[in-house]
Amino acid sequence: MKIDVSAGDITTTQVDGIMVSLCEDSEPLGVSRSAVVAVDNLLGGAIGALLDAKGVKGKPNEVTLLHSLGRLPARLVAVCGLGRQSEVTLDRVRDATAEGCRALRRLGCQSIGTTVLGSGSVGLDARACAQAIAEGAVLGLYIFTKYKPPEGPDVERVRIVVRDVSDVGTLSQAVDIGVVLAEATNYARDMVNEPANYMTPSRMAQMAQDLAATLDLRATVLDKDDMVSLGMGALLGVAQGSAEPPKFIRLDYQGDGAEAHRTALIGKAITFDSGGISIKPSEGLAEMKDDMAGGAAVIAAMSALARLQTNAAVTALVPATENLPGGRAFRPGDVLKSMSGKTIEIMSTDAEGRLVLADAITYAINEAMSPLVDVATLTGACRVALGTSYSGVFSNNEDVAARFLRAATGTGERMWRMPLADEYRELNKSQIADIKNTGNRYGGAITAALFISEFAGSTPWLHADIAGTAHSTKDSGVVVKGATGVPVRTLCEFVRSE
Ligand code: BES
Ligand code: MN
Ligand code: ZN
Repeated sequence: MKIDVSAGDITTTQVDGIMVSLCEDSEPLGVSRSAVVAVDNLLGGAIGALLDAKGVKGKPNEVTLLHSLGRLPARLVAVCGLGRQSEVTLDRVRDATAEGCRALRRLGCQSIGTTVLGSGSVGLDARACAQAIAEGAVLGLYIFTKYKPPEGPDVERVRIVVRDVSDVGTLSQAVDIGVVLAEATNYARDMVNEPANYMTPSRMAQMAQDLAATLDLRATVLDKDDMVSLGMGALLGVAQGSAEPPKFIRLDYQGDGAEAHRTALIGKAITFDSGGISIKPSEGLAEMKDDMAGGAAVIAAMSALARLQTNAAVTALVPATENLPGGRAFRPGDVLKSMSGKTIEIMSTDAEGRLVLADAITYAINEAMSPLVDVATLTGACRVALGTSYSGVFSNNEDVAARFLRAATGTGERMWRMPLADEYRELNKSQIADIKNTGNRYGGAITAALFISEFAGSTPWLHADIAGTAHSTKDSGVVVKGATGVPVRTLCEFVRSE
């Protein structure tokens, strides 16, 4: 799909469908001179009539489709709701674009024209809106087609129509940034949506190497022997129950060369989490192919950072393995020696994510990387606590936490800070080892984060638990059914905000 910006009039644009926006508390049609009014006039007042009949309200994510009956070059008009004028954010613009594009695609539109939703009477910055529209279109129209062809034709072109030719250049630049960020998110979605029989640790490593071959990235893949030499006993413990070889994937991006520090983006990549000997119930088990979503997100973020020629130096680290109950599998009660030297008593082989993260964090610290940001589908408890919209954020550093949450705000990827409660540290204490890998029944997302924090020590570190948000059961705005690609755009904004 191609997205471009061109100067002209939305009512005369030669496309299959057009999008215009409407707010809940817009002035009555006819008073303002917005695009929706121009379209309404040409449609003989059809939109106004629907408004009067309360058939159209302009609520967020509302899309009303009208046929132009030949009164416009475009066959269809999508009136996209943005909500109350004072509450319109870039997030709303993104979601409205996604909903509008999907509605038009459903009716067979292959080319779509849109105004710069959110920039007119609402008054948001036009560049930011153009970026959001590009993201909304690319994210909202995503479908995973590898194993089944799509039901209808694809949208091939989205054209953003501006009145003033002098705006085309700057808005095109903004569109290009949005496209890169959204394509990276879709790349992560593709990785996560792949089944575990395809998306093995080796395949993830191969994909990282393929990115490095075409982008300004260097890939290093450590095999089992390297892990043994480095003493990655926690990662190796998880890997030993599977016949599939584990991989420790490293992707480096240089930045502008003025490297004052190097951020590490660490992603949990359990390509299938059966729970191991502490095996999970079969209900919902297929979803455990998503347990590499953190790893996919950090690899995908690297591709966007390289394409955007970001200044900052950054490295992705991805400990990748299956968690299976094979004959050589680690057992509850086992003690593993982590790369840090700390010994870990295994209470549950299903608490494997924190084990692979522990070694990745030690590796990052040994390489003098800072800050460390890890992303992981870590705990069902986080999903229970925050639901499926909000990821849980934990950090030992106020500056890093503030910068990360600020980066997230603009993207619409919802994040909520959770406490690293010192008083719960004792729950991870073991009788026979330095630490154990589960707490008690309560506060499971917190005790998991506290476990990881023991390995981060005093290095600035942030942990995002995406167990609730990596997967969606429905289409809503930019989020589509299946893998969400969270938090690729936040990671990129975080590194770009340095
Ligand atoms: N991968 C799971 C967490 C998860 C659960 C992700 C649901 C997505 C949806 C993780 O490895 C896990 O199994 N965690 C356990 C920890 C427990 C044994 C302390 C959990 O949450 O039950
Ligand atoms: Mn598990
Ligand atoms: Zn897991």
